Amino acid sequence: MKIGVRTILRIASSGLVVLVVLAQFVRPAKTNPIVQADRSMQAHVKIPDDVAALLKRACADCHSDETVWPWYSNIAPVSWFVIDHVNHGRKHLNFSEWQNEAQSIPTRTLDHRLEEILKEVKSGGMPLSSYTLLHPEARLTDQERDRICNWASEERRRIVRRLKKAGRLTLIESLC
Ligand code: HEC
Repeated sequence: MKIGVRTILRIASSGLVVLVVLAQFVRPAKTNPIVQADRSMQAHVKIPDDVAALLKRACADCHSDETVWPWYSNIAPVSWFVIDHVNHGRKHLNFSEWQNEAQSIPTRTLDHRLEEILKEVKSGGMPLSSYTLLHPEARLTDQERDRICNWASEERRRIVRRLKKAGRLTLIESLC
């Protein structure tokens, strides 16, 4: 029996449709845990309104519990990537859970967290480019990156001063 190209294409495309339909049933959990203001970064770090607005615009979807889930986060397989990014992002850095961790970690680690923010913003590693492709409003200009960097440096200096006062010196690197 001869099978024409058209038949093959028809079978392949209906196979694809079936796969996409089946994929919709695989739904990883999309969460927005309840936010407690006293645990947030704002409650524990001095952060001017304009910097807070930048972090909210460019980072909060993946690094806070206040994610605004986009419509395509409902459609597999795209949803799998989006949910995975948010879960991973929150695990590394969560603006809504600053205090929770701070209770069990030394000030030194808070400094490290600011250092990581500084490095990611300075190097252009964050926000992820796959995100800014679909969220152009989250792109940061060079001035905005400098603003975040300078704020993070300032906060790090404050933390180090506090450590010195307490007789615990630390190294401070990569300031803006
Ligand atoms: C689209 C989601 C997304 C956005 C938006 C985003 N991040 Fe991330 N971020 C991630 C993920 C996912 C990781 C985990 C590491 C990785 O896979 O690269 C991460 C990791 C990090 C880390 C930890 C790096 C490390 O080595 O531990 C820092 C710091 C960070 N991001 C800062 C930021 C800042 C600051 C912004 C905003 C300017 C931002 N991110 C925007 C998803 C995001």
